[in-house]
Amino acid sequence: MNPIEQFKQERAEAMKLMSQDAELKQKSVDWMLHSDKYKYTYNFTWMGRPIIKYPQDIQIMQELIWDVKPDLIIETGIAHGGSIIFSSSMMELLGNGGKVIAVDIDIRKHNRDEIEKHPMMKNITMLEGSSIDEGIVQQIADYAKGFKKVMVVLDSNHTHDHVLRELEMYTPLVSMDSYILLPDTFVEFFPKGYVTDRPWDVGNNPYTAMEAFLKTTKKFVKDESITDKLLVTEALGGGYLKRIA
Ligand SMILES: C[S@@+](CC[C@H](N)C(=O)[O-])C[C@H]1O[C@@H](n2cnc3c(N)ncnc32)[C@H](O)[C@@H]1O
Repeated sequence: MNPIEQFKQERAEAMKLMSQDAELKQKSVDWMLHSDKYKYTYNFTWMGRPIIKYPQDIQIMQELIWDVKPDLIIETGIAHGGSIIFSSSMMELLGNGGKVIAVDIDIRKHNRDEIEKHPMMKNITMLEGSSIDEGIVQQIADYAKGFKKVMVVLDSNHTHDHVLRELEMYTPLVSMDSYILLPDTFVEFFPKGYVTDRPWDVGNNPYTAMEAFLKTTKKFVKDESITDKLLVTEALGGGYLKRIA
């Protein structure tokens, strides 16, 4: 066997064993829960802008963007802008002239000012409003018409009803063999009542929305090979959905 294939095969075998290790999986959930006490996901920046994600999920976004080679990334939930700056920088690296369009219900002035003067702003369009507002979704759908390969990241309001509506509205825009990313499915795996400052909880979060959505379609599947290898991920439980039909 050639050495490249051998490396891949050995890695796949180790990952398969790791995915069956219930103790390691539980330790990973425990670690996420413990580190969340210190708002661990707020610790990182991408090209200077705070990005509210585990470094593991940023790494996987890089792998997916390289594999899928989207020319448009749609994001809901901008916050400080780190994620859209990341996506825009990946478009620069791909060199395919790709763009990013994103929506947030409240783009704070200090964040907007920093994002607008960032060199990666050149690929970004920001909209202000609710991600499930029909006018906003129509603007995004119109913008998406000229693109060949579209990827979507849903990272706004994480209640069941909101994410389910986002899934209904944004999945038609996702290209074949591309992905829709659902951060914060991990809430389902934390103790009930753990989240106190937001309306989501066990039974009411992106994971429950994803499960309800998957019952209605055969076009998307969970790519659990991703969450199995990450272990530490906001998308715990399969929140990387691949379009297969
Ligand atoms: C977790 S933060 C986004 C983090 C960002 N994607 C990143 O990785 O750095 C969630 C954002 O969603 C926004 N948001 C909340 N409800 C929303 C809605 N209905 N529509 C659009 N954005 C919303 C909030 O204003 C907040 O900025």
